[in-house]
Amino acid sequence: MEEKNSFMIFSAPIQGLTDPVWRHFHHQVYGGGSVAAYHTPFMRVERGEVRRRDVRDLKSEFNQGLTLVPQIIFRDIKEFRMLCDEIRIAGYSVADMNMGCPFPPQVHHGRGAGILGNIELLREVSAVITAEYGDLSFSAKMRLGVECPDEWRDALAVLNTIPLRHMTVHPRTARQQYSGDLFMDEFAMVLGASAHPVIYNGDIVRPEQIDEVMSAYPGVAGVMIGRGLFS
Ligand SMILES: Cc1cc2nc3c(=O)[nH]c(=O)nc-3n(C[C@H](O)[C@H](O)[C@H](O)COP(=O)(O)O)c2cc1C
Repeated sequence: MEEKNSFMIFSAPIQGLTDPVWRHFHHQVYGGGSVAAYHTPFMRVERGEVRRRDVRDLKSEFNQGLTLVPQIIFRDIKEFRMLCDEIRIAGYSVADMNMGCPFPPQVHHGRGAGILGNIELLREVSAVITAEYGDLSFSAKMRLGVECPDEWRDALAVLNTIPLRHMTVHPRTARQQYSGDLFMDEFAMVLGASAHPVIYNGDIVRPEQIDEVMSAYPGVAGVMIGRGLFS
């Protein structure tokens, strides 16, 4: 199935929860039209190879019949290539880049939200996507920053040069983890500055909140829902 062009609702990746079996049953119970795509929890490189269970997730028979976007987390261009190659081998043509994971072990190693400050790596990713991965279609999922909600600016300038399908924004800092104030003013600024369609992500637990996002930010292309799909 293809992602639709109209306002889109995505299922967010959640490690340990949005596994192949959950995705399969959610899709069976709520039907093909309920979400435009499911995202795998991030795939990562561990001890020099792509984590085996991430590869098993990609190849699971439970993925049949639904639109799945493999997500990757990386700290350098070598990990980026290894993960993209695995996605290719598994027969997928889409990938989502994790630029928002707030877990300190990941951030301190420069992965997830830690990438937002690594402009050199983002430039390298931009060049490598153009030169080597023209057959894959990329999206990104980001936070506003690690410590402060205005750290996204330099990263966005580079992301604007990459041909992304869309960019999902969770308007918190990594320091906040998954609770606390949402920086909606900064979100509106990302929306205005992004060259790509922007997907809103954060604290949606009731259907009417989707309408509220659509009317408050008419430029938003869709929403991504994580914990709300479990509540
Ligand atoms: C336990 C847990 C695991 C998560 N794992 C991932 C992940 O693998 N990749 C990712 O991009 N986001 C991950 N997230 C973040 C969610 O995708 C989402 O951005 C966040 O929960 C905010 O959206 P929500 O309020 O709709 O849940 C995780 C969140 C939680 C709570």
